Amino acid sequence: MKTIITRATREDLPALVEIGKQCFGFMGSSRRQLLYQITRAKGAVFVARADGKAVGCLVCLTHAARKSSRIFSLAVHPEMQGRGLGRRLLKEAFAYSRSAGMRAITLEVKTENTVAYWLYRTSGFSIVETLPQYYFLGYDAYRMRVELYPSRRSGLIPHLPNGDRL
Ligand SMILES: CC(C)(COP(=O)(O)OP(=O)(O)OC[C@H]1O[C@@H](n2cnc3c(N)ncnc32)[C@H](O)[C@@H]1OP(=O)(O)O)[C@@H](O)C(=O)NCCC(=O)NCCS
Repeated sequence: MKTIITRATREDLPALVEIGKQCFGFMGSSRRQLLYQITRAKGAVFVARADGKAVGCLVCLTHAARKSSRIFSLAVHPEMQGRGLGRRLLKEAFAYSRSAGMRAITLEVKTENTVAYWLYRTSGFSIVETLPQYYFLGYDAYRMRVELYPSRRSGLIPHLPNGDRL
């Protein structure tokens, strides 16, 4: 199976809404919200495709004044999870944020979401604060952040907790 990451287009909307439903139930993004994020919001929407079919999505919004971007959502269709697509989508968000001149990336994740937390922690994110009852039904969230330090070589490269660089 050939998997690639591309920028999302309007044509992806039905598939992206479905992925959101599969991953987050009724809390998934609406068509309208995704359309806005693809066509008008400051940032980028990336799609993971398997044999041409959209199977994963990451929404990265940039905040120019703060010089930071935010991972608004990340979802991989349940049938395609555990194959490295989440990590590849996240790498795209790093590359995009660096190229857009951002100095950090932030996100929120349910404290109970161990898979997503592991993915973020091993990609260099640290917990900034805990947000009690941040989500619907009272679930707590961690706010996480990674700094994108300037590199002497090229672009901006984040540091992992063990000192390695992505
Ligand atoms: C979180 C999510 C995006 C990760 O995407 P994915 O494609 O499954 O993740 P990857 O295959 O890239 O794996 C990322 C890491 O998580 C680990 N992982 C993946 N699935 C796992 C599982 N079921 N149990 C334990 N670890 C798991 C992988 O081993 C990998 O770590 P490694 O590289 O150190 O081995 C995906 O599980 C998902 O869509 N979940 C539902 C929606 C969600 O929770 N989104 C995040 C909201 S903040």
